[in-house]
Amino acid sequence: MQAPAYQLHHLCIYERQPRDAMWNWLRWYHAIPAYYWEGYADMHHTGEGGVDYTFLACGGPFQMQLEAPPYQFEYERRWFAEHGSGINHICWIVPNALETVDHLQSAGATVAMPYEEFGGTYNGFVAIDTEGRWVEIMEYVGGFKTPDVEFRPVGHVGLQTLGVVQLCRDLNTQVDWYCEVLGQRIVHDARSDNEGVVYLADHTYGDRQCVSVLATPALDAEHALMDRHGPVISSVLYQAADVTQAYADAVAAGFEEISAPAQDDRIGSITGYLREPSGNIVQVRERFEFAA
Ligand SMILES: [Fe+2]
Repeated sequence: MQAPAYQLHHLCIYERQPRDAMWNWLRWYHAIPAYYWEGYADMHHTGEGGVDYTFLACGGPFQMQLEAPPYQFEYERRWFAEHGSGINHICWIVPNALETVDHLQSAGATVAMPYEEFGGTYNGFVAIDTEGRWVEIMEYVGGFKTPDVEFRPVGHVGLQTLGVVQLCRDLNTQVDWYCEVLGQRIVHDARSDNEGVVYLADHTYGDRQCVSVLATPALDAEHALMDRHGPVISSVLYQAADVTQAYADAVAAGFEEISAPAQDDRIGSITGYLREPSGNIVQVRERFEFAA
């Protein structure tokens, strides 16, 4: 079977108080491209309940989905009872979600939510990767699509979402899995002795600059997340033309400081770290481009 094409789309934050938490993002250059609730035709209507999703975007194709409790499905409610507010999953768009079920399972993933068709919006399911992080798979059907924002830096600091960071227990194994199974390729490799940071990009990287980063924990805040949750989707990654000002603006917007912008040799750039209201890490680094 030919491997399906997996395109990085969004991460999803489960947040106890999303309407309050959202203000930090809105004060920090973000926009709301879509808000879905259970009154929206076809959207996630199941026997278990309705939805409340707000998408957030900032100048790039990678978006965040902020989801409000009590959560639609029992498997989601179980996760929230165990982990609380945090990043629940990363979502990938594929041409055919049903074919992808077998593809991921044959590669060692398990299924958290079985394949389901949501009327004229999308088909999808949720898998769990080989270290326990959640992978949502979506296939758009009909004309439905979560709207994009303009793909250009926002504000005088030139802020853009870039992607997501996942903390790994066995970095080499996870890099191999995401490359071989999800068709990612390495665009930046800063590993030694199975520790460090690896930037991965999907097949659209030349047009849609976004990345998924696999890393071992380095900051105390990263070790704390991993100790609490195991291998975890830890961080939202940004690039900015003016990192110092973007960082100061984030603090003014309500994000908690972790470490002010400084040279980070693992990433090879000036990088600052913050914490957002749900407890996840926000990483802002200088703008630089890898070869497309
Ligand atoms: Fe999602």
